[in-house]
Amino acid sequence: QTAPRNLRDLPKGHLHLHMEAAIRPSTLNEMAATLGIEPPNTTVFSGFSQFDIVYRTLLAVLQEPTHLATLMDQIFEDQVANGVVYLELGVDSSFYVERYGSHSRALEVMLGLARTASERHGLAFGFMVTIDRTASIEHSILIAEAAALFAGEGVVSLGLASDERGHPCADFAEAFAIAKAAGLHSTPHAGELVGPPSVREAIDVLHADRVLHGVRAIEDPELVAELAARGITLDVCPTSNVLLDVVDTIAEHPLPRLLAAGVRCSINADDPIIFGPNILAEYELCRAELGLTDEQLADCAWTSIETTAAPDEVKSAAR
Ligand code: ADE
Ligand code: ZN
Repeated sequence: QTAPRNLRDLPKGHLHLHMEAAIRPSTLNEMAATLGIEPPNTTVFSGFSQFDIVYRTLLAVLQEPTHLATLMDQIFEDQVANGVVYLELGVDSSFYVERYGSHSRALEVMLGLARTASERHGLAFGFMVTIDRTASIEHSILIAEAAALFAGEGVVSLGLASDERGHPCADFAEAFAIAKAAGLHSTPHAGELVGPPSVREAIDVLHADRVLHGVRAIEDPELVAELAARGITLDVCPTSNVLLDVVDTIAEHPLPRLLAAGVRCSINADDPIIFGPNILAEYELCRAELGLTDEQLADCAWTSIETTAAPDEVKSAAR
C-alpha cells in the first residue's frame, strides 16, 4: 500500500478563477480599512442573483491602482503555494474601463501587473478575458476586439460569464468568431444554471475548446459521449456548484460520473473569497467527498495543463 499522493506537489493548471474573487480575506479587510469603508461580507448569499451582487461589492474595494497591483501579486503567490504551475486568470475589462479609458488600455494595465507577478513568482499565465453575458451584444464585440489585440501577448482565451439564464451562448457567436480568428481559445461558462442545450450551443455555436462548469451536461448521455469523444474539457468547480445550487449536495456532484464516461475535467476554485476553498482544497474535497483516486486526481491535473495554452516548457515539465 502506497501513501496517498501529496496533492500540493501535483502540478496543476488553474483555469477557472475570477480575478477579483481571488483576493485574500485579510487583504480585502485591509483595503477596505484604508478606504474607510466596511469590508463587504462576501460569504452570505442565496442563489446566483445575490452571488452576482456580492461579486460586484468587491469592485468597491479595488479602487486604487495600487490595490490591483497588490491583488495580482498575491494571486500569483497564492497559486504557487497551491502547486499551480499555469494560471489562466479570468479578467473583465469592463470593471476598469472608466478608470483606464478603454478596454484595451484596461487589459494592457492588468497584463503589465500580471507579467511582473509572473516573473516575481515564477508562474506562467494567460488571461481569459470574460464577457458579461447580461450586457449587450455590442459590448461583447468590443471586448472580443480588445482581447484579440493581445492574442499572443498574454491573452489566451475569450470567456463568457454571469447569469446564463436568458442569456444564451448563441447570442455571442460574433464575439467568439472574432476571438477564434485571432487564435484565442473559446472558453464560455455553460451548463451551470442552464442544462444540456446551453452546453450544446457552447460547443456547436461558440466552438468551445473548454466549457467552464459544463456539469449539467450529465443530464444528456449523448452530450456526455460527445464531450468525451471530442476531448472537450470541463473546468469544474465543485464547491461553487454546491453553493450556487447547481447540485444539492457535494456527494451528488457529477464529476465522478463525467470522468467515468471519459470526459476530460479540470478542478478549480471559481471564486474563493466567496465560496471558501482554494484550488488545493478543491482537490482535497474531490478526494475526501467524491472518492476520486490519486490516478483520477492526477488525470484532472494533467488535463488542466495539457488542454490549455500553457507554454510547452510547462507541459513537458508536468508530463
Ligand atoms: N462569475 C464568477 N463566477 C461565476 C460563475 N460561477 N458563473 C457565472 N459567472 C461567474
Ligand atoms: Zn466562473
